[in-house]
Amino acid sequence: MSAPAPAPSPGARGPDTAAALLRVNNIEVIYDEVILVLRGLSLEVPEGSIVALLGSNGAGKSTTLKAISGLLPSEQGEVTSGSVVFEGQDITRMDAPERVRRGLSLCMEGRHVFPHLSVADNLLAGGYTRPREAGETLGFVYEFFPKLAEMRGRTAGFLSGGEQQMLAIGRALMAGPKLLMLDEPSLGLAPLLVEEIFETISRLNAETGLTVLVIEQNARTALSVAHHGYIMEQGRIMLEDSAGALADNPDVKEFYLGIGGGDSEKKSYRDVKHYKRRKRWL
Ligand SMILES: Nc1ncnc2c1ncn2[C@@H]1O[C@H](COP(=O)(O)OP(=O)(O)OP(=O)(O)O)[C@@H](O)[C@H]1O
Ligand SMILES: [Mg+2]
Repeated sequence: MSAPAPAPSPGARGPDTAAALLRVNNIEVIYDEVILVLRGLSLEVPEGSIVALLGSNGAGKSTTLKAISGLLPSEQGEVTSGSVVFEGQDITRMDAPERVRRGLSLCMEGRHVFPHLSVADNLLAGGYTRPREAGETLGFVYEFFPKLAEMRGRTAGFLSGGEQQMLAIGRALMAGPKLLMLDEPSLGLAPLLVEEIFETISRLNAETGLTVLVIEQNARTALSVAHHGYIMEQGRIMLEDSAGALADNPDVKEFYLGIGGGDSEKKSYRDVKHYKRRKRWL
């Protein structure tokens, strides 16, 4: 993250016109050689954009990020078909550390800071792949998160949930990513902190041009900062559109934004589709 250049406005570009930094082509993922979790999933993340990946529990969102980051082998998971292409290069079989070196950085669900290490040491651990740039990047992270600078000597395990999330993002930035992936950064945080996290993500994107792929349960907040969104269910993308169009889509409103539906949480987007199809036949 040295000398970040201002980004062109990604909002003006759709994924069809902008260069895709990441392209996931029709991937299938299997765990333990039998459990098929991703069933032909495709998505793309244009350079300089924020893309939100939304969907109900168990849809396969985290699995998607693990497939992109190369973390499936440690969970007996495997991409059995399709490809992951980053900056035009097929990285489907590349090991995870090499992907980090190439600029893919994942902030896993649940934050996972090193609780016994100080804030500063947590950050330095995130920069292990590029020790020569660590000092400069640390300076950038402290500038971007003045609160982390104030707390640099504190033990990470004693920070609040929101502070730990900021630290987790700061640590991911230490790897100098071109694509930052965040798995439910707002999990377990109070509404005000959720806003703060997303405001941070938006500012990072606007000020440094960093490309972001974010998984989020909190669809309303995610769509308010994202440029483009994908909705997945049962291992496939069910719907994709600009974030604004998704936020206005009546089905998305009912099933993901909790507007207009009764017990919407128990249904799924798939149900809406089936219902619509039936209605057309009647
Ligand atoms: N290591 C694993 N071994 C076997 N099955 C797994 C493994 N990890 C995930 N799964 C299964 O894959 C499916 C998708 O899981 P995943 O964690 O990707 O979903 P998710 O969309 O991130 O859900 P959530 O919103 O709850 O985080 C689930 O049915 C889950 O049980
Ligand atoms: Mg998950």
